[in-house]
Amino acid sequence: MANLEVKDLAKSYNGKTKVLKDISFSVKNGDLVSILGPSGCGKTTTLRIIAGLIPATDGQVLVDGEDVGKVPVYKRNFGMVFQSYALFPHMTVFNNVAFGLKMKKMSKSDIQKRVDQILKITGLSKLASRYPKELSGGQQQRVSLARALVVNPQLLLMDEPLSNLDAKLRIKMRSEIRELQQKLKMTVLFVTHDQRECFAISDKVLIMKDGKIDQYDTPENIFHHPSSEYVARFIGYDNFINVDEIINDRQIKSKDLVFLTDENNIQAKVLTIRPENILINSEENPSNNLIDGTITSLEYLGQSFKYKVSTSLGYFTVEESRKSMRSSGDKVQLYLPSKHLHPLSR
Ligand SMILES: Nc1ncnc2c1ncn2[C@@H]1O[C@H](COP(=O)(O)OP(=O)(O)OP(=O)(O)O)[C@@H](O)[C@H]1O
Ligand SMILES: [Mg+2]
Repeated sequence: MANLEVKDLAKSYNGKTKVLKDISFSVKNGDLVSILGPSGCGKTTTLRIIAGLIPATDGQVLVDGEDVGKVPVYKRNFGMVFQSYALFPHMTVFNNVAFGLKMKKMSKSDIQKRVDQILKITGLSKLASRYPKELSGGQQQRVSLARALVVNPQLLLMDEPLSNLDAKLRIKMRSEIRELQQKLKMTVLFVTHDQRECFAISDKVLIMKDGKIDQYDTPENIFHHPSSEYVARFIGYDNFINVDEIINDRQIKSKDLVFLTDENNIQAKVLTIRPENILINSEENPSNNLIDGTITSLEYLGQSFKYKVSTSLGYFTVEESRKSMRSSGDKVQLYLPSKHLHPLSR
């Protein structure tokens, strides 16, 4: 497997508006990096340029330091898995997986050995003589993965590979992919628009917005330190407080309320906090970061309750695990602990 480096990539289709701008990032050998972003932000375009399926308008793709811009797609030793598994319907599982090796004119006995090995790794040995239509969605997805892996790719590119699976199977397959990736020490670029999915399996996450990178970091850092309101909203921060005045680097004012933060807020435009980090009627008797409000609606989430609370700063969403449910109309006091209140500068 290899290191991937993408430098200043730009793309416009038919010379029109730019769908990719200044895309630069690198993926370390053996890492799984997810590209996360809403529909139309340019995820597939980025992946297709790296694969060599479409040309970039500008920029470079380097594999182990070498520019692959002029290397045609069939000579780039990359594995690809797409949303539609694109299996050959008239070929058995074995032949689907063997296809890439036959194209490389590998000997029959070597093909047999290599395919057997990959079918074993992907748990498909018993299904080798079946046809795609005789397989479940998850099994087809695995064949598609096996076919990508069989050529021993330097880099594995996956474009929403799990989107055709139901929720339960998706979760199972994503851990299988992660396990396999770690076992084989693969370098993987994985496109998804599912936040939980990418946080669960990635070494790093690249968040895209309108053809640009908004944040590229580890899941932990993104989760605790989103770089913008866009990223924060995308990963489940529901509450935003406008900064009207910066009092000092740990204190801001919104309307007539003062909030303390643990992080430096000197450039803050908004503060944000996750629904599960807000406390209702806290028994700690805090003296700051409090807002009075009224519960206006509630939702049962199984493990917890979700409340919408109306306050002088607008609505807050609060998630609370508690045996008994609060009621609509209840007067409550919200406590926003300073350690969970993150300043955002954009
Ligand atoms: N062949 C094409 N010609 C013109 N515009 C295109 C073409 N392919 C994609 N686009 C446009 O480029 C932008 C990015 O598309 P892309 O397919 O990369 O998005 P995406 O992030 O993969 O979205 P999704 O999550 O829906 O798959 C979109 O605005 C899309 O309409
Ligand atoms: Mg796409």
